[in-house]
Amino acid sequence: MNRLYGRSRLVIDAHDTMMADDRVFVGTYLDDFAVAGLLGPVGEICLLGLAFGGGIRPLLSTAPDAHVTAVDTNRQAIEMCTGLFGMHFPDIGFDAVHADAADYMRFCDKTFDVIAVDLYTPDGHADCVFDERFWSDVLARLAVDGVLMVNVWGVPLYLDPLVGASPQAAVASLLEARVPTLRALPAHDNLTFLACADSEPRAHLESRDLSRSDRACLGLLSARLRVAEIDTKAATLPSELTGLGTFDQVRAETQARWPGLAAAFRAAGGAAGLDPSLCTPRTIIDDPSAAQAITLGLLETDPVSARYVPIVAAESAFRRQYRAEWFGRWVVDEFEDLAQRAPEWFVGTAVPRAMAMAVCPVAPRWEWTDELFDKVEAFAARS
Ligand SMILES: C[S@@+](CC[C@H](N)C(=O)[O-])C[C@H]1O[C@@H](n2cnc3c(N)ncnc32)[C@H](O)[C@@H]1O
Repeated sequence: MNRLYGRSRLVIDAHDTMMADDRVFVGTYLDDFAVAGLLGPVGEICLLGLAFGGGIRPLLSTAPDAHVTAVDTNRQAIEMCTGLFGMHFPDIGFDAVHADAADYMRFCDKTFDVIAVDLYTPDGHADCVFDERFWSDVLARLAVDGVLMVNVWGVPLYLDPLVGASPQAAVASLLEARVPTLRALPAHDNLTFLACADSEPRAHLESRDLSRSDRACLGLLSARLRVAEIDTKAATLPSELTGLGTFDQVRAETQARWPGLAAAFRAAGGAAGLDPSLCTPRTIIDDPSAAQAITLGLLETDPVSARYVPIVAAESAFRRQYRAEWFGRWVVDEFEDLAQRAPEWFVGTAVPRAMAMAVCPVAPRWEWTDELFDKVEAFAARS
């Protein structure tokens, strides 16, 4: 039995982490930490922000021989996480350090092949995420050909988070000034920034003993990596960083951008011959044919807004509202056509969001799940 799978039933659906005993990949940004092991051999991993440790199994799925050091300020989280792994995943070992991530990066004397940054407080991002000195310290601890992964939550991806004031734009700007190339893997309202020398998947993966859904997720991750280029030129470092990463600030920024999305929906709806007044982002998920027509129209005129339907469909599954089941069926039925029509949206947004619905531990087993896994595995093998 692969040590990545649990010995007894476990589903954690917490604010900080989602995980399940029977699958490594659960459809959240934590899955994307597996990308590091696709890029080359990994010895030492540092995970800044441990919580329940949902990112540990994705990290180890592609770096099975790696040693993980996880750092967190929350002593209770560390105790809970080590207890949880001891009980459910006893063959997975990791070192847990009770420390502030910024202090640890400044004073530790180790070098890591992978550093995964995932730091949040109850109010939003940890302050160090917006601190230039923190990033200098992090990069000083990274091996020369190491991989830095930084998860940043914020303005939804369909509202162009890399333009204007957002936590994602601020972090992109801070990182871009310090690393040769920056890429990003999107998931829900998160971007996982990836800074590394080489973004071509190089590692040979032995994934025979992974479950079918995990194999499909890993295959898709390789394909997503190829379209993970981002244009951060538009990202400008806001002069006032204080409070930028709080939940309240992100909510306010999201609200300010919302009318632009609503206008794009009305225009795309009108162009598709629908009544524009009925084409609102808030209700579109309940009208599959209008949602499909608007999304196809937006793919021609406004690809950022075209991310909305896939993202919101997947989000609803994570909220245990299952009314967007049609979205997965649409992706499966139109797989080849959508892949041709809008390759980046397809690989970067549509298929990953359908897969997130399929592997979400709190969603039902949709009738299209197996077909999607088959198509994704075949697609990944071809890419
Ligand atoms: C979203 S959770 C991390 C989830 C985790 N990576 C996983 O794999 O499940 C964020 C964590 O960051 C921790 N944190 C926040 N600020 C921190 C800091 N300055 N130093 C270390 N840990 C911090 C919090 O205690 C919390 O456990």
